[in-house]
Amino acid sequence: MIFRNSLDAEELPALYEIEKECFVEPFLWSRTTFDKSLLFAARKKNVWIAEENGRIMGFLLAGKEFGKGYIDTVDVAGKARGRGVATKLIGMYEAAAKKRGLTEIKLEVNTDNPAQVLYFKLGYRVTGFRRHYYKLHCHALTMGKKL
Ligand SMILES: CC(C)(COP(=O)(O)OP(=O)(O)OC[C@H]1O[C@@H](n2cnc3c(N)ncnc32)[C@H](O)[C@@H]1OP(=O)(O)O)[C@@H](O)C(=O)NCCC(=O)NCCS
Repeated sequence: MIFRNSLDAEELPALYEIEKECFVEPFLWSRTTFDKSLLFAARKKNVWIAEENGRIMGFLLAGKEFGKGYIDTVDVAGKARGRGVATKLIGMYEAAAKKRGLTEIKLEVNTDNPAQVLYFKLGYRVTGFRRHYYKLHCHALTMGKKL
């Protein structure tokens, strides 16, 4: 598996296929929003990609808000799960964030999403609860980690 902090615009369709594997409505972004967000983040070196035998297996989309880093999403293709891909992507982002002078990373996760176990294992702790944060009366936990 190769991990890199770069994105080619031609890779967007492959990334969106993974996004569709990971999320359904109302959490699934439209293709337009997805492309815009990924390209914006890539310009700021905030996209990390996992690739195996020339095929993209996962990606992490990050950002910066009020001086803090945040993880927008980590998406891993179904067939590549359980092999530490998300752990590695998050680790790479954390190392880069630290080098960039950030001292904290935040994220929001649907209360029903088992990804919160992954984040907890990596040292993220619940910092709050956002009622009706998502559509359809879904709620979110906010989590954070000091670097
Ligand atoms: C959540 C997700 C990113 C995990 O990716 P992954 O590469 O399989 O994760 P890792 O292999 O690095 O997992 C590391 C640890 O996290 C925990 N973990 C990961 N996925 C889990 C799940 N579905 N349920 C419970 N624990 C989980 C486990 O403790 C795991 O360690 P183990 O394999 O030794 O048990 C992946 O399932 C996914 O893409 N989900 C859909 C998208 C999503 O919801 N992303 C998060 C948005 S906030």
